[in-house]
Amino acid sequence: MSTLIIVGAQWGDEGKGKVIDLLTPQVDMVVRYQGGANAGHTVVVGDEKVVLHLLPSGVLHEGCQCVIGNGVVIDPDVLITEMAGLQERGYLRDPLRVVVSDRAHVVFPYHRLIDQLREARKDATFIGTTGRGIGPTYEDKVARRGIRMGDLIQPDVLRKLLETILPQKNQEIVSLGGKPLVFAELFAQATIWGEKISHHVKDASLLVEQSIRNKKQVLFEGAQGTALDVDQGTYPYVTSSNTVAGGACTGVGIGPTLIDDVWGVSKAYTTRVGEGPFPTEEKSSAGEHLRKQGHEFGSTTGRPRRCGWFDVPLVRHAARVNGLTGLVVTKLDVLTGLEDVKVCVKNDDQKVPVYETFPGWTEDITHARSLKDLPRNARNYISALEEKCQVPIVLVSVGSERSQHIMVRKPFTS
Ligand code: GDP
Ligand code: IMO
Ligand code: MG
Repeated sequence: MSTLIIVGAQWGDEGKGKVIDLLTPQVDMVVRYQGGANAGHTVVVGDEKVVLHLLPSGVLHEGCQCVIGNGVVIDPDVLITEMAGLQERGYLRDPLRVVVSDRAHVVFPYHRLIDQLREARKDATFIGTTGRGIGPTYEDKVARRGIRMGDLIQPDVLRKLLETILPQKNQEIVSLGGKPLVFAELFAQATIWGEKISHHVKDASLLVEQSIRNKKQVLFEGAQGTALDVDQGTYPYVTSSNTVAGGACTGVGIGPTLIDDVWGVSKAYTTRVGEGPFPTEEKSSAGEHLRKQGHEFGSTTGRPRRCGWFDVPLVRHAARVNGLTGLVVTKLDVLTGLEDVKVCVKNDDQKVPVYETFPGWTEDITHARSLKDLPRNARNYISALEEKCQVPIVLVSVGSERSQHIMVRKPFTS
């Protein structure tokens, strides 16, 4: 096995960043394939915390090549700031190990503005987006009026495209009650972005494909989660991309036969940010415990996350539509101290969750490094999740720090 996709199995924020970071020493390359700066992937190294929005979460490891595929929508301002921020903190000594696909679409300030103005109406179409311009950029991509990274770095091409597109965008901005953007300012700003990023822009599809053929180990980093997938999620309360494993092939430009394994990441409970259905949501003291102990506030927007119990039907759906070969369970430590832990095992005819209750535990489990180190009740809980989700549990995370995990099955070994 040399390729592994890491995908969120719930509504995002499952701990994908942490999982990617801890697996990176075993790989040559980490590739983002969809979403954009709506993602917030947290990596904790010792006392230091890094939140990544666009750069792959393998970026803290100097030897790792980091690729942003064509399926990602890139806000150049965020990308440049993120790279500079890492360099200031002593990471990314060789910035050229970051490669950006020439086919990836650019998020412009008008996309962000339109996203925010639409959401500000708080009407029936309110989604609770991150306001990062993600939906409007994917709309333009599909409508064939998007601007790609390859265009951004060619001022003449960029000028022509912006001259056509900006008046249309300004019309929409004004109709939503906003202030139109000035062409000269936007063009000047975008040209500077293009100059700064141009050395990173390449044919990423070819690079990734050749790396795999040359027997390099490659990790694909999903953003958001399966239940936020535009096709397989809780539509319309979803993001605007294919977050599922299949998105890795279209979002990088490689064939499905090059993918060996797909691991889903799920919390030991469930959270969601923004609007939309959440059957196992707990507004009780148990929900408060999860929010408090799990520090459940968004990494991108700071919004409090909605919290609830583990939902087996949701994760089984993820197992099916992603073809999961392994399940990673994170934040098991957050359940410590609860007298009982509930799991939704199915939904009844009225779609109301049916729960099974498991006895909790009080022991500190953050130092556990093998399943044997866990108290019996925690071990039983993990076994129950494995049995009910029908996916082998490959990794259990017991704290936010890189080292706080139990590796059940090492990847890249078969
Ligand atoms: P991502 O978007 O899937 O990468 O997840 P986020 O970074 O948005 O949210 C996960 C949060 O949980 C971050 O603050 C992580 O540092 C933290 N985290 C990850 N794994 C664990 C864990 O096993 N235990 C605890 N307590 N925190 C964790
Ligand atoms: P990571 O990668 C959790 C949610 C938003 C909103 C919906 C649409 O960190 O797991 P968008 O801005 O994408 O148009 O918002 O999707 N959302 C996320 N929720 N984690 C994320 O990313 C998310 N990215 C988007 O809250 O409900
Ligand atoms: Mg996140």
